[in-house]
Amino acid sequence: NFNDKEDKSEIYEINKVSARYFRDNLYKNSFALEYLRKRNINAKTIRQFGLGFSLNSWDNLYRYLSQKGYSDNAIEKAGLIGKKSGNNGYYDKFRNRIIFPIIDTKSRVIGFGGRVLDDSHPKYLNSQDTIAFNKGNHLYGLNLLNKHSNRKRILLVEGYMDVISLYAKGINYSVASLGTALTDRQCKLIKRYGEEVYICYDSDLAGINAALRAIDLMLKVDVNPRIISLPKGMDPDDYINQKGLIEFEKQLNNSLNYMDFKINIIREKYDLEKLEEKVNFTKEIANLIKGLKSPIEQDVYIDKISDKTGISKEAIEKEIRGKFYKKK
Ligand code: UTP
Ligand code: MN
Ligand code: MN
Ligand code: MN
Ligand code: MN
Repeated sequence: NFNDKEDKSEIYEINKVSARYFRDNLYKNSFALEYLRKRNINAKTIRQFGLGFSLNSWDNLYRYLSQKGYSDNAIEKAGLIGKKSGNNGYYDKFRNRIIFPIIDTKSRVIGFGGRVLDDSHPKYLNSQDTIAFNKGNHLYGLNLLNKHSNRKRILLVEGYMDVISLYAKGINYSVASLGTALTDRQCKLIKRYGEEVYICYDSDLAGINAALRAIDLMLKVDVNPRIISLPKGMDPDDYINQKGLIEFEKQLNNSLNYMDFKINIIREKYDLEKLEEKVNFTKEIANLIKGLKSPIEQDVYIDKISDKTGISKEAIEKEIRGKFYKKK
């Protein structure tokens, strides 16, 4: 409706003014710039991503925006301030953080992410959902992808810094979900923007579990993703900064199709030298193969597992079809 549209455009405007203010703060605070420099982010990248800094103050942005004539109500609706308890005044949501504006494909600032400069918690803060911003409907980096990518590849990563470091080193087709678990709407966006989908999440337990979940969500929109497994403990930001573009591209070339990735993960749980564990491993894989729609794909993986375990193809096939002869 009309009012909603008015409210939204005011939120975009407040966000834009705030993003500029955060940017100006960044250039005035050498320690914030120094933090980014330590993370290998140069002036050009700061500009390209519109990075900023929110001051270590309870109401600096609030006072700035009020002075500019924006109402408390509008600033609150933009998600930038919260009511103090007792109902006396407002406080800034983003304080003492590096600011990552979240920009949509129409170049509107729809929200923000903020990172602390030290080890305090939470490490990242994201704008709450507002009438102008639904986190599950957007991806960080999509605005830049729209400009540069040939729409062949799209690479899904976890975080802001991953997208930024990859971009700075020459990978201009990565996107990240916005501090929440991947949604089916985001999967549809990914499908729309790239033919080949790669997933490169952090190489830790949380990242592996998130990747498994992302695989199943991508399959639901009929995309077969390929998976990049970085060395343990690393994320794309760490990797490209330590090893460089060429090595990262090797990782892309060595990516696994999602089935091989899943099989590898299951494989790590079992000791195939032990008969019982070999049986259980094969049963678990058989169950995985059961989920494949194509009989050809099924056949390929039955072959593979048969080779790996020495169990006959016939037995694995029967296990999958659930047809076996009961003793009389
Ligand atoms: P990570 O914890 O892997 O962040 O979270 P990171 O990018 O590696 O952090 P640094 O800066 O390199 O140390 C990945 C993403 O998860 C979301 C953010 O979107 C982040 O980019 N996140 C993480 C949060 O929303 N809140 C948190 O407290 C942590
Ligand atoms: Mn992580
Ligand atoms: Mn990470
Ligand atoms: Mn980290
Ligand atoms: Mn990181």
